[in-house]
Amino acid sequence: MVTCYDYTFARLLMKSAIDGILVGDSAAMVMHGHPTTLSANTELMRVHTEAVARGAAGKFIVVDMPFLSFRKGAVAALDSASILMIAGAQAVKIEGVDGHEDVIQRIVQSGIPVMGHLGLQPQSVHAYGGFRVQGRSRDSAQNIACQAAALEKLGAFAIVLECVPANLARDISESLRIPTIGIGAGAGCDGQILVLQDLLGLNPDFHPKFGRPFLNGARCVLETLARFDEAVKAGTFPAGEESYS
Ligand code: KIV
Repeated sequence: MVTCYDYTFARLLMKSAIDGILVGDSAAMVMHGHPTTLSANTELMRVHTEAVARGAAGKFIVVDMPFLSFRKGAVAALDSASILMIAGAQAVKIEGVDGHEDVIQRIVQSGIPVMGHLGLQPQSVHAYGGFRVQGRSRDSAQNIACQAAALEKLGAFAIVLECVPANLARDISESLRIPTIGIGAGAGCDGQILVLQDLLGLNPDFHPKFGRPFLNGARCVLETLARFDEAVKAGTFPAGEESYS
C-alpha cells in the first residue's frame, strides 16, 4: 500500500499494481506542512478522500479517522466514519484500541471495515514525547501484541504496525489470522506501506531509518524546473508549435 492525498497521484496509482491506497492523516504533515497529524480533522480528510476517490475509483481506499474523532463516543465516531465512507473510503483506519473498543465494534457492526494501527501511533506523539519506536521493552511488546489480538477479536480486517522491532512484528503477524501491514516494522509483516512522497524521494530533508527513496524525486523536479526556467529565459519556450496562430 501507499498513501495518497490527491487526484493526480491517485490517477497514476490507478495505473499501478499497488494493492491499496491509504488517505492518511499524514496529509496534515505532507500536504499542509503541519508538524504532526493532530491538525487533520474529518473535513480535511473528506476533501482529500474525495479527490483520491475521483482519481482511483476501483482501487481499495482506506481513510484515516483523524485525531480524537473516534474518542468522543460511538455516535460522533459513526458521524465521522460515514462522512469518510460517503466521500469514497471503503474502510477506515483507527489508531489504538484501549478505551475505544466499543466504538471499533460499533463501526465494524455498522458494515464499515476497520483497519487497526498499533506500535507508533502518530496521534499519540505528545504522549510518547516524540516520534519514537514502540515495543522495545517486554511490557510494551506484550501490550502491543495484546492490542493486536484484541483488534482481531473486535473484527478489524488488518492492522498497520508502525515503528516496532522486526521480531515483534513478525511474531504478531504469525499469531494473527488477519494481515499486518508494516511501516518501520521489518519484513515479517504480510504487507508494507510507505508515504508516497517518501518513496518518491520528494522530501530530501526527511530520512527515516525505515524508508527507502526509490526515486530521487526532488532532484528530478528541481532539474525539470531549471530546464523550464532556462528555456523561458533563453527564449526557446514557447516555440512556434507551442503557440496559437
Ligand atoms: O497517515 C499515515 O500516513 C499512516 C501511515 C504511516 C501508515 O498512518
